[in-house]
Order: sequence, then C-alpha cells, then structure tokens
Amino acid sequence: MQKDSFNIVLCGMGFMGTMHAQIYSRIPETRITAVVDTNPDGAATRLKELGLEVPVFATLQDALATVPSDVVDICVPTDQHEAFVREAAEAGKDIFCEKPITLTTDSAQRILQAVKAVHFQVGQCMRFWPQYEALQEIIASGKAGRLLSLSLQRRAGRTSHSVGDWLNKAERSHGAALDLHIHDTDYVLSLFGTPQAVTSVGTREHSGLNHIFTTYHYDNGPAVVAEGGWNYPAQWGFQMAFQAVFENGTVEFDSTATPSLTGTFGHEPKGEISFKKSVADSSSVQIGNLSDLGGYFSELRYFVDCLKTGKHPEIATGAQAAESLRVVEHEIQSADTRRTVNIPSL
Ligand SMILES: NC(=O)c1ccc[n+]([C@@H]2O[C@H](COP(=O)([O-])OP(=O)(O)OC[C@H]3O[C@@H](n4cnc5c(N)ncnc54)[C@H](O)[C@@H]3O)[C@@H](O)[C@H]2O)c1
Repeated sequence: MQKDSFNIVLCGMGFMGTMHAQIYSRIPETRITAVVDTNPDGAATRLKELGLEVPVFATLQDALATVPSDVVDICVPTDQHEAFVREAAEAGKDIFCEKPITLTTDSAQRILQAVKAVHFQVGQCMRFWPQYEALQEIIASGKAGRLLSLSLQRRAGRTSHSVGDWLNKAERSHGAALDLHIHDTDYVLSLFGTPQAVTSVGTREHSGLNHIFTTYHYDNGPAVVAEGGWNYPAQWGFQMAFQAVFENGTVEFDSTATPSLTGTFGHEPKGEISFKKSVADSSSVQIGNLSDLGGYFSELRYFVDCLKTGKHPEIATGAQAAESLRVVEHEIQSADTRRTVNIPSL
C-alpha cells in the first residue's frame, strides 16, 4: 500500500539529528513524532530552539511503543548504528541511517541482512551534493573530453562538538579516515566503481587515522587521488573541494570560494558553472561555511520520494555504503603498512 505521509522517529539529536530535524520541517509529507536520545535535556533544548514540540525518549523501544512511526532515522554515533538499524528493522520500520553505515564490514553485512524487508538508505550525501552531481553530469556528457585526473580534498579543524567526544575516540569513530574521508571514497566509487588497489599514507594519532592521502588505482582509468583530514587547527574551519582535469578543460569546486564551481573549457576564460540547486537553497540555514542544505536536503527528499512510490532507494544504498566502508578499510590498511593494497573483487 502506497502512503503519502510519514511519521519519523529521529534517533540522536546532536549535530546531524538537528540538521535532519530542520530538513524534515521542510518536507511536508513528514512529521517527527519522537526523538530518541540518551541526553534528553540536551535534545529537548535543541528541539525548543527549532520551535518543535516533540516528545523525547531514552530508548528506541520506548519510542516505538508509544508514538506512531513509519521511519526510524538514525543519527546516533557510528558505533551505535548496527544496534539501532537491527532494532528498527525487526520492528518493520523503514530506515535512514547516517554515514558511515557502521564501523566494520562484518557489521555492515549483518546490517544488510537485517534490512532486506524494509526501505533502507545511508547518508552518503555526496551522491546528492549539487556541485558533485554537476561534475558527474559533465563527465557523462563528454563535453570537456575524457577525464584525465580527479583530485578531491576534505579538510577540517580539530573537532570537539561530538557528545562524549566520541569522534575523537578511535574505537568509536575509526578517525577521520572513516568518518570524514569516506565521503570522497564513496563519491569516487559512484563515478568509477571499486578500484583495483589503493595506496595510502596518513597521520595516525591516539584518536585514529586523522589525515589520509589515497591514490585509487583504476586500470585504464583516470588518475584519482583524495585527501581527508580533521587535524587542522580547530579554528581553521571546513573545506571540501575537487579539481577535475579533462582533455579539453577543467572543473573546479571549492566550498570556501565564491563562486564555488568554476570551469575552464576550450579557449574560454575561467567562468562560473551553474548547477541545479537543492530545493531548500533559499533557507537561511548555515552549515559551517556552506550556505544551504545542499545534499543533506536532497538525500532525505529522495528517500521520502522512494517511500511514497514504494521503490527501494537506488542511490546511497546499503550495499554501496558497505562497499565504500570496505574500500576505506583497505585504505587504512595501506596507510598503516605503507604498502599498496589490492582490493579483492566480491
Ligand atoms: N552526512 C554527514 O555529512 C555527517 C556529518 C556529521 C555527522 N554524521 C554522522 O552522523 C552520526 C551522528 O554524528 P553527530 O555529529 O550528530 O554526533 P553528535 O555527538 O553531535 O550527536 C549524537 C547524538 O546521539 C545521542 N546519543 C549517543 N548515544 C546514544 C544512544 N545510545 N541512544 C540514543 N542517543 C544517543 C547523543 O546524546 C547526541 O545527542 C554519526 O554517524 C556521524 O558520522 C554525518
């Protein structure tokens, strides 16, 4: 039976849960019926700041037993993802789970088994981020010729926002290599598939591999490299960027620049590239130095559209997220051993 409105139980009302709450308030077919958070006072304060009146529960079990629910949206720390996904799936709820899907490939396989009967999408939002979609379209169109190389960067100041400082605990987040850099790994996979091998170097600290540089090896494909790290000075801010060099042009993105997306084609001077903005662009919401809800809005809009039509999401699926996690695990192994690591085909 197709539905056109959805009750959401939002788990984890921290940085990302607050973002999702703001997005659902811009998606008319959704209503948050409960928040689940082990810090109910903090969650209640954030809900009040957003002008939302929603009951807060300490456990998912209590929320599901008390309020109407169709969807469980999981924004708790990554080491809690598997437990929340399995509980929600056992209750027959459709699930949106933040990235990374979980901490290990074994755990990811258990998740994929658990969600077979429900709709499931993972917050690998670069697949929905407007400037990254624009690059994908330019590659596919061939208008600048063959892509020769792609270099991606994701850099941030030292993070201190997470509740209980879980992001800085290696066993809970697996460091920037998994938590931050997986965005670029996932985007690379969305463009070119799984590489044959990876060569990585990085900086390991007590809180994990917090800066990583990876070369993705594609036989007969473009040269692809990515840098991801959150060990810049705390006040440094955040930047995501890429540079794509084609036979007949370049496309460059820099989240700290205006305009953010530029191109140099043929003999024309460098100019701004227009791209499809997310529906929520006119909002005043600020995410760091990003001025709109970008892929964060579009991924949830897509998820709700899938629910409305009864289709399973085909973008940012559980299997795709699990594969990105598997590749990052090989990158971490490569950085720790300082050797190129082959990635077996599945
Ligand atoms: N897509 C993105 O770009 C993006 C950005 C940031 C975070 N994330 C992901 O979102 C998830 C949450 O990250 P965050 O930055 O919002 O963390 P956070 O620390 O800001 O928030 C986590 C929230 O979960 C609550 N919580 C912790 N354990 C709980 C439990 N067992 N049950 C219920 N509530 C619990 C905390 O009290 C807190 O309110 C992580 O998986 C992270 O990787 C994704």
